[in-house]
Amino acid sequence: MLKLPDGRPLKITAPAGVTIEAAVAITGDVKVKGKTALDGDITLTGRLTASDDVLAAGKSLQRHTHPGVQPGGGSSGPPK
Ligand SMILES: [Fe+2]
Repeated sequence: MLKLPDGRPLKITAPAGVTIEAAVAITGDVKVKGKTALDGDITLTGRLTASDDVLAAGKSLQRHTHPGVQPGGGSSGPPK
């Protein structure tokens, strides 16, 4: 929610959508409610926390396996 200089909140209601054609810099916390699609590379300098599984090129971070690996002190190969 945008805030006016005096601190009052500014609410934008636009059922047909809003398009911003500009470089945008935001200082402060951002909360998005709803599905979000980003078209482009993302660079993150902080920690990424997900409450659900994460997929990387279709591979589940929680459920991927490392076939051919037996328990022991060695390291496995990449996920399959
Ligand atoms: Fe793994």
